[in-house]
Amino acid sequence: MSYAIQAEGLVKRFGSTTALAGVDLAARTGSILGVLGPNGAGKTTAVRVLATLIKPDEGRARVGGFDTIRDAHKVRELIGLTGQYASVDEELTGLENLILLGRLLELSRKDARQRARDLLERFGLTDAAGRPASTYSGGMRRRLDLAASLVGRPTVLYLDEPTTGLDPHARAEVWDVIRGLVADGVTVLLTTQYLDEADQLTNEIAVIDHGRVVANGTPAQLKAKAGAQRLEIRPALASDLPAVARLMTELAGVAPTEGADPGLLGVPVHDPAVMTAAVRRLEDARIVVRELALRLPSLDEVFLALTGHRAEPIGAGNEPTGPRNGPAGPPSPADETAATEGRLA
Ligand SMILES: Nc1ncnc2c1ncn2[C@@H]1O[C@H](COP(=O)(O)OP(=O)(O)O)[C@@H](O)[C@H]1O
Ligand SMILES: [Mg+2]
Repeated sequence: MSYAIQAEGLVKRFGSTTALAGVDLAARTGSILGVLGPNGAGKTTAVRVLATLIKPDEGRARVGGFDTIRDAHKVRELIGLTGQYASVDEELTGLENLILLGRLLELSRKDARQRARDLLERFGLTDAAGRPASTYSGGMRRRLDLAASLVGRPTVLYLDEPTTGLDPHARAEVWDVIRGLVADGVTVLLTTQYLDEADQLTNEIAVIDHGRVVANGTPAQLKAKAGAQRLEIRPALASDLPAVARLMTELAGVAPTEGADPGLLGVPVHDPAVMTAAVRRLEDARIVVRELALRLPSLDEVFLALTGHRAEPIGAGNEPTGPRNGPAGPPSPADETAATEGRLA
């Protein structure tokens, strides 16, 4: 099995801040590795090390078999990088931007133009090719940015939060583009704060928090790590909640929690047979349910289980330089537990 990216024990300090505290990463050739973590986790720092933009204080990384320090120039020939912020020139048209990049990469005038046209076509930007980039929507800008990182035909591509700040429609468009890249055999390292994005796009995920990898595996493995499966029951009548909670406690050995969705009780279970037992017990007690499910935990629950806190909510002040969005965040785990206990006591 060959690895396009291999990093071992990366440490990077900025003054008194330790951005990376010993990070190992590995991406199989032709796969998408997700680096998932909240703001400030160290994602961009890891990308900058792997892109040869900064040197680690400790540890080493190889990209396409080349050392990022000793063979930095070789690594640069292989990689493409799309940053969190669009890197295109606002005043130039989409076409001009891509031709310029091609010329910088020493393509002939003709080849640069052809490459630009091909990429615009592929990213659905042909109609907008002659318009200044300043007139593009957020999703179009991000697609142009992706196209720009592909001018040099990289075999390894770093996408640093490619959908942060995009609306759901534009995110879906960018996801399609990313899936297309991998179909071409490009190895992608994608950083994200979005659990659903990692779940949708990646083959493997490294969850990082405070400069450390706190977990890694396939999306399914990570979900399994956070506590096998969850039994969820929503009684039809709110007045049945205490009885259902008691019943679930007896079946699972721990008390259920109500979580963010009121009226839906959930508890981790390790034996799928509890499902049938639950159905029988509910029937015996003549409790009608609206929802009854056995499912893998969501990545959000995985993150909470692994790090002790939730990842940033989507769209809530994710831009490092932007203002924090108001006080309305998700309840902290402590609040949630208290609320649940209050209701079920
Ligand atoms: N150039 C820098 N100088 C000082 N501190 C930095 C620098 N770059 C990153 N940091 C700090 O390192 C930590 C990790 O940052 P970063 O890698 O940008 O995280 P992420 O991309 O996951 O949001 C943060 O605490 C950040 O403030
Ligand atoms: Mg970042």
